[in-house]
Parts: sequence; structure tokens; C-alpha cells
Amino acid sequence: MENQNKRPSKNRGYYVKMKLMHKHGRPQQEKNFFIKYYKYVLWLSLSFYFFSSYLINNNNIKHPKTTTTHISISLSQSFSTNKTKSHLKNLKLFIYDLPPNYNTNWLSNERCSTHLFASEVAIHRALLTSDVRTFDPYEADFFFVPVYVSCNFSTVNGFPAIGHARSLLSSAVKLISSEYPFWNRSRGSDHVFVASHDFGSCFHTLEDVAMKDGVPEIMKKSIVLQTFGVNYDHPCQKVEHVVIPPYVSPESIRNTMVNFPVNGRRDIWVFFRGKMEVHPKNVSGRFYSKKVRTVIWKKFNGDRRFYLRRHRFPGYQSEIARSVFCLCPLGWAPWSPRLVESVALGCVPVIIADGIRLPFSSAVKWSEISVTVAERDVWNLAEILEQVAATNLSAIQRKLWDPQTRKALLFNSRVQEGDATWQVLLYLSEKLDRSYRSSRVSRQLDFDT
Ligand SMILES: *[C@@H]1O[C@H](CO)[C@@H](O)[C@H](O)[C@H]1NC(C)=O
Ligand SMILES: *[C@@H]1O[C@H](CO)[C@@H](O)[C@H](O)[C@H]1NC(C)=O
Ligand SMILES: *[C@@H]1O[C@H](CO)[C@@H](O)[C@H](O)[C@H]1NC(C)=O
Ligand SMILES: *[C@@H]1O[C@H](CO)[C@@H](O)[C@H](O)[C@H]1NC(C)=O
Ligand SMILES: *[C@@H]1O[C@H](CO)[C@@H](O)[C@H](O)[C@H]1NC(C)=O
Repeated sequence: MENQNKRPSKNRGYYVKMKLMHKHGRPQQEKNFFIKYYKYVLWLSLSFYFFSSYLINNNNIKHPKTTTTHISISLSQSFSTNKTKSHLKNLKLFIYDLPPNYNTNWLSNERCSTHLFASEVAIHRALLTSDVRTFDPYEADFFFVPVYVSCNFSTVNGFPAIGHARSLLSSAVKLISSEYPFWNRSRGSDHVFVASHDFGSCFHTLEDVAMKDGVPEIMKKSIVLQTFGVNYDHPCQKVEHVVIPPYVSPESIRNTMVNFPVNGRRDIWVFFRGKMEVHPKNVSGRFYSKKVRTVIWKKFNGDRRFYLRRHRFPGYQSEIARSVFCLCPLGWAPWSPRLVESVALGCVPVIIADGIRLPFSSAVKWSEISVTVAERDVWNLAEILEQVAATNLSAIQRKLWDPQTRKALLFNSRVQEGDATWQVLLYLSEKLDRSYRSSRVSRQLDFDT
């Protein structure tokens, strides 16, 4: 919006100036005429100016016939923003109705739909009621395969055991490819999966094993929505994929914000709560990564500007909502739910995870709403944050507190424009060339014309 308003007004001033200059350059006779009537001309120009700005600001769609360059600029801008919306409307997605042992049976454990890997459940749910869903697979652009792999919680430590993930997925693919023709005709390239745990489409919780196993053969041609993302070569991203945020319940965010509004008092300067000895799982060649949290604890515990806590606390979201900066150091994997909670609750995320690729980077301008600190610079955290606080903190907060930004990382139970599931759909709408149906339709059109 900001851009749309800025550009035309700049051009408008330029246009009026050009017009006036042009008029000064006329022959003497005409010049006299203009001097005589200059008040009138000025009045006319000014009214034209205000009239056109009125048109641009209020009515640029309804009066396309008043064609001046500025109006066509703002028109094309609105068309381009609406194009994606209409794309989304045309997008059609079919959801396989798999037997409940692939998905809904796992929901008997309540944690399955609330824990940090629950985007596999949340996306499925939101798609079921969304406008893009079609019940006719022949008109579908994409096929969603709803398999929940993160809900077999260990009875020992409560962590999700995903040892069964590969076999569950391949059995699902076997089922859909034998019962329907759609998998075989595209070899799965228009089929969509979610991989919401540590190393995404590698389906293993230990990075070295995950890297060795790679993406399962059956899924290599498909599209994977995964939480894992790094900006260097990695076997767990060797598949068409989009980086999605980990799951945080939008309801818990709303409940927290009732008592702690985004622009409320923030009496904690730097916040972190979590395990201090977590080491990322053996990332080769990354010396500092093994120590990030330990360094933070050793160096800043006792510094009164830092509020660091080791133990779990159910009310930690209110602490985030009371904080100016929230540390998001890498943990087991580069990504962490802290990122989502910080953004949603308006605490500036301080990202300490070299090479991390952040979710929905086209919708969320991460460089404008967060602070990135290199792992090796973690010793200087306090100076870095003091510097930000002294210079651009309020600019960062203003952008961070934009409701559109805070919404983009949350999966609502029904798709809302701009929320996380919507971002996924927007991504798919830009990938229609992978769709068997759409590519057939466009080939047909090419042929006809
Ligand atoms: C574009 O989208 C805006 C906001 O949703 C809407 O008000 C406007 O009418 C749309 N314009 C067109 C040409 O569809
Ligand atoms: C769930 O995990 C346990 C190990 O914690 C394993 O023995 C069991 O087979 C798994 N269940 C399924 C359905 O894969
Ligand atoms: C798809 O291919 C597999 C393996 O080639 C085959 O077993 C299956 O019957 C095919 N499915 C359909 C619907 O033809
Ligand atoms: C880390 O990886 C190296 C080889 O890449 C291996 O020798 C070592 O045992 C691994 N350490 C852990 C804790 O997994
Ligand atoms: C804020 O300032 C720091 C340096 O003080 C700079 O590195 C960073 O890019 C700035 N961030 C934004 C969003 O302007």
C-alpha cells in the first residue's frame, strides 16, 4: 500500500511541473495570453492536480477512462496485486481421502494437533474447508497427500518417533497410485506432502543419518512443504519444496495478546527461555554452532539486561510479549518455534543460526523485521543489540507490528487471506507449470492459437 501511494504522487508532481514548464516555453503571443490568464491556468492546473489525486487515491479502478500515465501505473499495480488473488481462486486442489491410520487416528493424542510439528495436521485441516478444494480430481491442479508422521510420541521421552515415516508414506503412495491414475500420469510431480519435523523431507531426526538417507525415492519428484531450510547445498532440500513455519497455535497467541497487546509495555530487554546445552546435531564444519546457547548462558546470565531461563514455563508467551528482543538461537535444527512466537507476539527475533533459510521469504521481509547475528558474533550480542536499539529499533518494530506480517506465520483452522496456509496456496499457484492438468490446458491453448 505504501508503495502504491508513493509512486503515483511522485509522478504526479513531475507531471504538473512538466506541464507548467512546457507552457512557459510557448511563443510571445501565447505567453501574454497565459500571463493574462495565469490565475485561471493556475487554478485549472491545481484543480486538475487535486482532481487527479482524488481519482488516484479513491477511484483508480472505477475511472480507467480518465487516462493519464499515473492512473495507468496505479491500475497496473492493482491488477498485479489482484492477479495473485484471482490465481488463487482458480487454483484447484484435490485432497486424497486416505484411511484413518494414515492420519486422523493419530489425533486421539491431543498433542498431535498442537505440538510444534503439527503443521502437517493444520494444513490438512485448513485445506479441507478451503475454497480451492475440489472433489473432482480430474479438474485438480494439485493433489494433497495427508499423512501424519510426527505423532508417534515416545513413551520414554515424549519426542516424536518418526522411524515409521518412510514406510507409512510409501504405503500411502502405493495406495493412491493403484487406486487412482493421477500419481502415475505425473509421476507425483503435482502431488504435495508435508514434512514438518527437524530435517524435513529426509524423515530422520539425526542430521547425519538424514543426510545419508536423503529424500525418499518415491517423493523426489513431488512438492514438499517443509520446516527445514538452509541456504547452502543440503541433501534434505533436493526436492521441489517450500519452507514453512513450525506450528504455533493461533489461539494461544490470541489469548496472550488479550493481556499483552503488541504495542504494550515491554519491560524485558532480551529474552530467552530454553535448554542451554542443546547442540545442533553434528553439523560438519560449523565450529561455533556447537556452543551458541552455552556462550549465551555463560556470558549473559547475570547481565541485568538479559532475562534468561532454563526451565519450561507454561506462561512463556507472555514473557515474549513483554520483551523487546527475543533470541532465536539454533537448537537441534536451525529453525525453532521461537521465530514464529516472536513475530506473532511482536518481539524482534534475534536470529542466531548461520545459513538458515526462513519461511515465506517473499511474504515476510525478514531483513526488515529481525536482527541477524552470526554465530561467531554471539559474544558481542549486547553491543549489537544496543546498537540496534540506538538506531533502528523503532523502524524494525513498526514493520514487525504490521498485522499482515504477524499473521503470515500462523496456520488458522480455516484459511485466512495472508495466513500461513494461504502463503502455501500462493506458492502452489505460482507452480502451475508442475500441474498435469494446467500444463495440458496451456498446451491445448498453444495448439489452438
Ligand atoms: C483488487 O483487490 C482489492 C482488495 O481486495 C479490491 O478492493 C479491488 O476491487 C480489486 N480490484 C480488481 C480490479 O479486482
Ligand atoms: C511408534 O514408535 C515406537 C517406538 O517408540 C515403535 O515401536 C512403534 O512401532 C511405532 N508405531 C508405529 C505405528 O509405527
Ligand atoms: C501405476 O504404476 C504402478 C507401478 O508401475 C502400477 O502398479 C499401478 O497399477 C499403476 N496404477 C494405475 C492406476 O494404473
Ligand atoms: C559427528 O559426525 C562425525 C562424522 O561426520 C562422527 O564421526 C561423529 O561420531 C558424529 N558425532 C555425533 C555426536 O553424532
Ligand atoms: C539496523 O541497524 C543495523 C546496524 O546498526 C543494521 O545492521 C541493520 O541492517 C539495520 N536493520 C534494519 C532493518 O534497518
